[in-house]
This record gives sequence, structure tokens and C-alpha cells, in this order.
Amino acid sequence: METCKNIVNPWWCWLLGLCFLCTSAFCTTVGETHYHEFVVQATPVRRLCKTRNIITVDGQFPGPTLEVRNGDHLVVKVVNQARYNITLHWHGIHQQRTAWADGPVYVTQCPIRPGGNYTYRFTIERQEGTLWWHAHTSWLRATVYGALIIRPKEGFSYPFTIPKREFPLLLGEWWNVNPIHVVNRALRTGTAPNVSDAYTINGQPGDLYNCSEKNTVTIPVESGETNLLRVINSAMNQQLFFTVANHNLTVVATDASYVKPFITSVIMLGPGETTDVLITTDQPTARYYIAARAYASAENVDFDNTITTAILEYMSAIPCTETTAQSNCSRPIFPSLPAYNDTAAVTAFSRSLRSLSDNISVPTHIDENLFFMVGLGLNPCRINRSNCQGPNGTRFTASMNNVSFVLPSNFSILQAYYQGINGVFTTNFPPVPPTIFNYTGNVSRALWTPIPGTEAYRMKYGSTVQIVLQGTSIVEAEHHPIHLHGYDFYIIAEGFGNYDPETDPAKFNLVDPPLRNTMGVPVGGWAVIRFVADNPGAWFMHCHIDTHLTWGLGMIFLVDNGVGELESLLRPPSDLPQC
Ligand code: C2O
Repeated sequence: METCKNIVNPWWCWLLGLCFLCTSAFCTTVGETHYHEFVVQATPVRRLCKTRNIITVDGQFPGPTLEVRNGDHLVVKVVNQARYNITLHWHGIHQQRTAWADGPVYVTQCPIRPGGNYTYRFTIERQEGTLWWHAHTSWLRATVYGALIIRPKEGFSYPFTIPKREFPLLLGEWWNVNPIHVVNRALRTGTAPNVSDAYTINGQPGDLYNCSEKNTVTIPVESGETNLLRVINSAMNQQLFFTVANHNLTVVATDASYVKPFITSVIMLGPGETTDVLITTDQPTARYYIAARAYASAENVDFDNTITTAILEYMSAIPCTETTAQSNCSRPIFPSLPAYNDTAAVTAFSRSLRSLSDNISVPTHIDENLFFMVGLGLNPCRINRSNCQGPNGTRFTASMNNVSFVLPSNFSILQAYYQGINGVFTTNFPPVPPTIFNYTGNVSRALWTPIPGTEAYRMKYGSTVQIVLQGTSIVEAEHHPIHLHGYDFYIIAEGFGNYDPETDPAKFNLVDPPLRNTMGVPVGGWAVIRFVADNPGAWFMHCHIDTHLTWGLGMIFLVDNGVGELESLLRPPSDLPQC
């Protein structure tokens, strides 16, 4: 599939007839180290006719794009000049043996305090494609995020047509007020947080919103090119459909793993997910909207129903302004978008995803056979107080296997695990739900209230793991993008209703399932994933809808060291922040 080009072998290679060996050794050992300093700071930014001080990295919104190659090393010194605690997470990076650099606050590290700093050091191993980085404290990731692009090693190329140009497109969400206030108010009252005021593409809402026309992002292209769009859903709380007017998209990768190319007019990304698409400029010279709007899977949940746009602009097309004559200028052509609740479009897309290679090793013998139900809940209040303004005087909550995850505050889980500190977490996370019921049916009110806890599930190094993720209809059935830190996993099946262990295994794809770091569990349905737990550490698995994460939709995997140094977690860095 890939070849190692541009490798010049030394003369003695040729002499000894060792060129093939030399080439492979050369190709697998070279890696460059990239040093960056990320200064976290408050920056005034004007959107939707209002200026607001937002938290940024280096004053940029979105933050800087990191561009590396497979096999490279990243050293990012984060200097916190903002007034909030912060950590950064490198979403989708495996962090093999470097869990200390993963970033979720109180899971792998204590926060970087205002005035403090911490240097994240890690290596990109066997990953290519589009990932991203984001803050992993409270709701700071609303504005603190950026692309992380991993190109093939020097001398290798993409397993598809080499694109003429490449564009990262980060989809985001914008609030007219401080997002930290939005989440804090929701936590105080027990209600759902206010929905966003706009979606954005590379930080700009686009010309369908007030005061946004001048700053709409344009993507300049020429006729007859094939270009690569690296689409990232960095929105806080919303699954998004994405499309380009009159153009086909050829999907070539998701979550930094290649897939068998297929053509579609629309893709859907849950928060956290990335999709790489090729787009050929084979249409008449004009300006075409690139657009994204909500996939709202739940029936009774409020969502931001606006549309964000950018413009794919063929270079000789003339934008219409007040001064251009109507006749020779071009107004952007509008695409058709699926209905907000078009679950069929989502299913058609997710079921088209197949690994590029047919030669992958999906584990077949399973050591850890797990079944996790995922969904919302309501905490009843005895007295109807101001902190119980959820449905019928309750507070919203969420859980996995009836445990609503609570972050510790005195140590990180990884530190407590590494140093053997008691009382920070338990290893009691249940492998199966505490009670079996009709998960997607009319669930008895008695089962709506989860138990809060900081619970982990502990596994031996190298365990082969299968997890059935089962959505529930408690409060509201909804599509959940479940993200696992530290690993990619194969998605071997998905379906609607309750998972049936008798009949559904017949549907497992063990030949070419997609490899991802985030699984979209269908609304009122289930998905099955498999991976090998060969990366020691404490790894967060959680819903990437931040509202649900805030309510406790997460759990921790603790993976023990294996045998010897290469199967063991490295020592904590000396500058690791203390609580
Ligand atoms: Cu992109 Cu724990 O998240």
C-alpha cells in the first residue's frame, strides 16, 4: 500500500546487497522533535456583533495547528497566563507509556494553575491523519482547541491521490456569554446548559449570522484539482452534518485511520470525531457553500438549529459586493442538508466506514467481556429548591452502568494509582449493569437515578477487551459519541434497540471494521468495540458531549504494567503539576 521513497542508501548497503534492510530501518527510525510554547491567555475576540474576552492559545482562535509526521516527537510547553486552571489533551494520540502527557484534569494530572506551566512530551507512533488538541478542564475547550495533523513518514505518501491543497476545517460552537458561566449556571440549577448562539468553521460563524459576512472563511481552489479537507468536530455538545454544495466528498480516513474510500454528499461527525475527505473541483467556476448544522437525535432536547458556512471559492469567481454588478458576480450556491433528525443518513454513513486494509488483527479471543449501558438520568430532590430546576424539580445527571462519574480533587487518578494512594478512587466499576432491564423501552422511574462515584475498571496488560455500549432511553434516548483515551478500537457492529448476545454476534465485522477513538452509539441502540489493552495507565472513557461529561457520563480504565520496561508506564515528569 505504501512505499518508502526518496531514501538514499549508503554505498556499503549496495555493496553488501542490504538495501532493502537499510531502507526499512531508515524508514522506521527517523523522527523529528517539534518544540512549541503554548501561552494560554485571555484575548478579546469579536463575533456576532459582540466583543468578548475568550481564553486562547497564543491569542489565536482556533489555536495553532500542529503539523508533524508519523514517528515524530512533540514537546509542548504550556504556560498558563489565564485565570482558570487548565490542562491540554491530544485527542486520539495513543500516548504509549506516556499517560502523564494525556491531559484530562484529575485523571492523568492535576491542573496547571494560573501562573504555572507544564511541558507535554510524547511521540506519534503508528498514526497518520487528522487529530486535534483541546483543553480538558471545565468547558475551556469551547475556545481552546486546534488541529493536529500527522503526515506519513518522510518518503512515504498517502494511500490515495496526492491532494493539491489541504485544509483543516474545525467545526466549533460559540456562545455570546462566557461558556464557563453557562456550565456553572447549569450545575447550580440542575438544568441543561443553554445551547450555543452559533456554530463556527475555523472560528467564524459565516455569512448567515449577523455581523459575520466580512469574516466568512473562504477556501480558495482552482478548477480541476483534488484537495483534502480535514474536518474536525470540535463543537462542545452537538453532532454535526457537514456538506459542500454540488460537490461529492470521497471519505478516506476517520480519527487518523485510513478507510476504504467511498463517495457521499454528506458526512456526520460527533464531537471529538474527525473525517478526511477528498474533493474534486469539477463544477462550473463559482462560489459554493461549505455548511454544517446539527444532527439532533433526541426528540425533546433543545439544540442550536443555526447553520455555519464557509465558501469554496473557485479562484476566478467574483464575489458579489455592493459595488460589483449583479450580472457577473457569484453568490454562493447553497447545499441541501439532511433534516435535523435524519438518523437514516447517519446510519448510512457510519455503516459505510471500513478499514482500508483487509489484513487487520481484530482480537477474537476475549479476556474482558464488558457491557456498559450509557445514558442520562435525573436526581430527585426532596425539597424543590433553586438547585433543582430540572424536569419536575429534579437535577440532570448521566452515567455508565449506573455510576455517575465524579472527578477527584486532591490527586489525579493516575498519580494515586502509581503511588498507591488510597481513598482517591475505587476499582469497583461494574463490568455489566447492576440490573438487567429493557434499556431502550419504557424504563421504570426507579431506575432513573444513578449512584455517584469515582470508579475504575482494572485490567491486566495485554487483555483483549470487548465492550458492548448500550444506549438507554432513560429521560431521553440520544446518540452518544463515546471517546476512549489511550487507544484506538475496532467498531465491529452497531444496531438499534437492545443488543442481543444470541443473534447480534452474527453481524460482527472481523474483516475490515473501522479503527477509531470515538464511537457514535446510535440513538436508542448499541455498538460493539474491541481493542487490546496494551498501554499501561489510567484512561478516561467518556461521552464527548461536554454536557453529558459534566453530568458524569464517563469511567476510567486502569491498565497495569506488563513485563519489563517496554510494557511499563514511564516515570512521572518532574514538572507534573501538583494538586
Ligand atoms: Cu477529546 Cu477526554 O477528550
